[in-house]
Amino acid sequence: MTSNIAVSRTSKSRLTEELRENSTFGTNYSDHMFVADYRDGQWQDARIEPFGPMSFSPAMTALHYGQSLFEGFKAHRTADGGVAIFRPMCNHARLNRTAARLCMPDVPEDLFRDGLVELLRTDREWVPHREGGSLYIRPVYFGASDTLMVHAASRYRFVVFTSPGGPYFSQPIRLLTEETYVRAFPGGTGDAKSAGNYGGGLLAAKLAQARGYHNVMWLDGRERRFIEESGVMNIMFAINGIAITPPLSGTILPGVTRDSVLTLLREMKVRVEERPISVDEVLAAHSAGTLQEAFGIGTAAVIAPIACIGYREKDLNIPTGAPDTLSKQLHTRLTNIQTGKEPDTHNWLLTV
Ligand SMILES: Cc1ncc(COP(=O)(O)O)c(C=O)c1O
Repeated sequence: MTSNIAVSRTSKSRLTEELRENSTFGTNYSDHMFVADYRDGQWQDARIEPFGPMSFSPAMTALHYGQSLFEGFKAHRTADGGVAIFRPMCNHARLNRTAARLCMPDVPEDLFRDGLVELLRTDREWVPHREGGSLYIRPVYFGASDTLMVHAASRYRFVVFTSPGGPYFSQPIRLLTEETYVRAFPGGTGDAKSAGNYGGGLLAAKLAQARGYHNVMWLDGRERRFIEESGVMNIMFAINGIAITPPLSGTILPGVTRDSVLTLLREMKVRVEERPISVDEVLAAHSAGTLQEAFGIGTAAVIAPIACIGYREKDLNIPTGAPDTLSKQLHTRLTNIQTGKEPDTHNWLLTV
């Protein structure tokens, strides 16, 4: 342990078996949180304290000028009775890339890792035991100065808290191709996990939901031609035996799950292409009968099969029921690695 972390435990744990095993995603929080503050040019006061409200000035930078970002990843119980976090240092690297984009200081690697491990050790009993359960880990980092001057804050707060969740049985999803609103554009913040990206996506998702879809399929901001993401997940198509996913060209979020999936596919000797894929190409493959699968890829659902893509007034239905789809194989392999049922040959797990 290199960071000096003060631990102040709650005198009354809220933990119950019901909360741990039956909470729906993102609705209940574990007993503690990790907090660190940046002021006077340095990180200080790293501490574990009971999860609860914080007080801030109404002039806080994050509220006005959007210096706010977050991350998301999971810890699982493993087959040998331990607890393991899946690729957390990839999230640390992405957090600092987002921070740089928003003019925020780096969160040091040891502060992130030591705080995370201390928090997980403190709230280890909150990690669900049931098959498919996990403890979702949410770091959030924001500007906390209280001045209305439009410039980067001089004070920041970094917080990590956790939330137990049951199995995320993702039913096949329905997406609407979004041709009006865009999530990202070249030179913007599409490849950063800044809070503002999510606020800007809510209206499109709401309008799609009113039409019976789960979310939107985002297109590129310049031509509305190339497919970028599926709601808040990365996206992949299987066409003629080739797995195709949009490239990391600056407008899509570099997903940790996407990276893991690409590694597994290459191991499985599936041909993979990271390249622009247009709506026209997907429509043509669908008409030709060569569009075999489409799926979303992200931490929460791991792999979410896409059963339907709405395009203008038409629905493209995509089969999802076959027993040995790529999406099922990938879901099984990834969750097996996360839970220690398969060897962790890539060193993806941080055990606590
Ligand atoms: C916009 C967006 N794309 C993709 C992803 C998938 O990223 P990851 O696999 O790291 O969860 C997420 C979720 O974090 C996201 O919010």
